[in-house]
Amino acid sequence: MIEGTVLLVGCGNMGSALLKGWFARGLNPVDIMIVEPAGRESVAAASEHPALVVLSDVSELPTDFTPDVVVFAVKPQNAKDVIPAYAHMAESGTVFLSIIAGLPLAKLEALLGANSALVRAMPNTPASIGQGISVLCPGSQAGPSQKRVCKVLMAAVGQTAWIENEADMDAVTAVSGSGPAYVFLLVETLAEAGVKAGLSPELSEQLALATVSGAGALLASSNSSCAQLRKVVTSPGGTTAAALDVLMASNGMSDLMNGAVAAAAKRSRELAG
Ligand SMILES: NC(=O)c1ccc[n+]([C@@H]2O[C@H](COP(=O)([O-])OP(=O)(O)OC[C@H]3O[C@@H](n4cnc5c(N)ncnc54)[C@H](OP(=O)(O)O)[C@@H]3O)[C@@H](O)[C@H]2O)c1
Repeated sequence: MIEGTVLLVGCGNMGSALLKGWFARGLNPVDIMIVEPAGRESVAAASEHPALVVLSDVSELPTDFTPDVVVFAVKPQNAKDVIPAYAHMAESGTVFLSIIAGLPLAKLEALLGANSALVRAMPNTPASIGQGISVLCPGSQAGPSQKRVCKVLMAAVGQTAWIENEADMDAVTAVSGSGPAYVFLLVETLAEAGVKAGLSPELSEQLALATVSGAGALLASSNSSCAQLRKVVTSPGGTTAAALDVLMASNGMSDLMNGAVAAAAKRSRELAG
C-alpha cells in the first residue's frame, strides 16, 4: 500500500511503468499529479483513472501543492531545464526521487538546493512488467521515512536494493541498468548460432527465446545457485560440457562480460561528468 502524495514529472516509458505499479499497489489517483508536456492523452492510465490530474506544464500546478514525493522521470538532457522549477518544494519536507540516469546527487543538489532531501534510483526495463530491480542511493538530507517512501515507490516495479556509496552507481548501471540488453543479445546470438548449426531462423529464435526466459524463470524459482543449476545440466563428457569448454575458456564469456561491464561503468562515469 502506497501512502502520501506524489508528483510525477515526466510520464514516458519509465514514468508510465512506475504509475502502473503504483496503482497496482493501491496509490489513490487523487493523491497523484503528473506533469507531462504531451498531456493527458499521452498517459495511458488516465483513461482508467478519471480523478488523475495530468498537467502539461509545471506552471499549472497549484501554488500551495506540496507533495510528499516528487519523482523525476525526464530524460537526462532535460534535467537542468526541468528540475529547478520544483526547488521551492524542498522547504515543505518534500523528498525528490530521481531516476534520471547519470545525474549524480551533487548535480541534483545544485539544481534543487543544498537542504533538499534527495534519493537517486536506477531502475531497469523489466520494471515495465513489474519485474525490474532498482538500486537506490540516499542524499545526506533524506530522512528514514523519506527513504522508506522512495523504496516503496520503486518496489512497485520490482526488487529494490540500497547503496550508501554513490560511486557504486556506475557499476550498478553497468550490471542491472544495461544488463537487460546483454540478455537480449544472448538470445540473438544463440538464435544466430542455431541457424549456423542448421536450424531454420524461426525455430532457432523460438528455441533461444524459450530457453533464456525458461532458464531465468527456473533460476528465479529455484533455491539453487546459478553454478549449481549449470552443473545439473552438464554431464561429464557431454554436449553441454563441450559448449562450456568454449564459453569458459580464457577470452571466453567471463573475459567478455568483464570487458562489457567495465566499458559500461566507464561510460557511466564519463556521462556523469
Ligand atoms: N527506460 C529505462 O529503462 C530506464 C532505466 C533507468 C533509468 N531511466 C531513466 O528514466 C528517465 C526517463 O526515461 P524514459 O525511458 O521513460 O524516457 P521517455 O520515455 O522519453 O520519458 C521522458 C518523459 O519526460 C517528458 N518531459 C519532457 N520535458 C518535460 C518537462 N518539462 N516536464 C515534465 N515532463 C517532461 C517527456 O515528454 P515528451 O516526450 O513530450 O518530451 C517524456 O514523456 C531517463 O532519465 C532515464 O535515464 C530509464
